[in-house]
Amino acid sequence: MRLKEFAKTGRKVSEIGMGTYYDPFWIMTAFAGWRRGGAAKINAINMGLGSGITLVDTAEVYRSEPLVAKAMAGRKRDEIFLATKVWPNHLHRDALVKAFDHSLGRLQTSYIDLYQVHWPNPRVPIRETMAAMEELVGQGKLRHVGVSNFNLRQLQEAQSALPKSELSSVQLDYSLINRSVEREILPYCDREKVALLAYYPLGHGKLPSDHRLEPLSSSRGKTKAQAALQWLAGKPGVFPIPRASTANHVRENAQASDWDLSDQERGQLDLQFP
Ligand SMILES: NC(=O)c1ccc[n+]([C@@H]2O[C@H](COP(=O)([O-])OP(=O)(O)OC[C@H]3O[C@@H](n4cnc5c(N)ncnc54)[C@H](OP(=O)(O)O)[C@@H]3O)[C@@H](O)[C@H]2O)c1
Repeated sequence: MRLKEFAKTGRKVSEIGMGTYYDPFWIMTAFAGWRRGGAAKINAINMGLGSGITLVDTAEVYRSEPLVAKAMAGRKRDEIFLATKVWPNHLHRDALVKAFDHSLGRLQTSYIDLYQVHWPNPRVPIRETMAAMEELVGQGKLRHVGVSNFNLRQLQEAQSALPKSELSSVQLDYSLINRSVEREILPYCDREKVALLAYYPLGHGKLPSDHRLEPLSSSRGKTKAQAALQWLAGKPGVFPIPRASTANHVRENAQASDWDLSDQERGQLDLQFP
């Protein structure tokens, strides 16, 4: 598994990550305490960690933090780059600190590598949220600050609300079938050295069966999912986080690393997925 610089953090993390949002049914049943299917999900996350994936993304709202904790148990904590998120109703200072401590408890860890604002909330001043983030960084419980689903203006506001630290990442929908971040956000991230965590990197499950990827994937002996993931992972600062719910898929996705698309192949994909 190839490792890549994660923004200005000084950390290198796997170029392929894992996402742990499953579906609304899982969230509802996990909330009710009925966790059927949990073992298979833990197994899938374990498969990823065992295949060299070090970047794991979860969120307080996904109800997957306890699964990630189980998969991490017995592994070296400092080899994992653990990212979680705070829901927009917890962006005032006290609520954020409380939500963070709850996440620490569910993740059974003493620190989080990346804490991300899941969605912006215009009713809470970003300065208050980012000041609370810096407080956590100051206490050594949090390493790096990120956001998710922010537009360019919101991203710039978040960055300027962090006088003592850097905004390390933004998480957005990015894949061959949704390239809208390439207009403004990606050039900004490149310039400012902000990492882009690409969610829906498989087009929410559509790309592994997209016939347009067939010629390239078969000529390179790869699957269509691997071609779609390497298209993202081969870009500086971009980290795809495909969903990790099936061990076989996670193994296949981890093997999307350690090869490169040629410029000609990238050009061909640009034409096929405008
Ligand atoms: N920040 C946000 O607001 C936000 C929003 C949405 C998602 N996310 C994050 O992004 C992650 C990914 O999103 P997503 O799961 O909806 O989209 P995705 O990763 O693009 O697609 C997942 C779908 O593709 C399937 N799949 C995965 N690997 C495959 C493979 N090698 N071959 C064939 N099919 C494969 C999955 O099936 P299996 O599940 O059976 O493997 C699932 O149905 C989430 O888990 C979450 O962490 C973040």
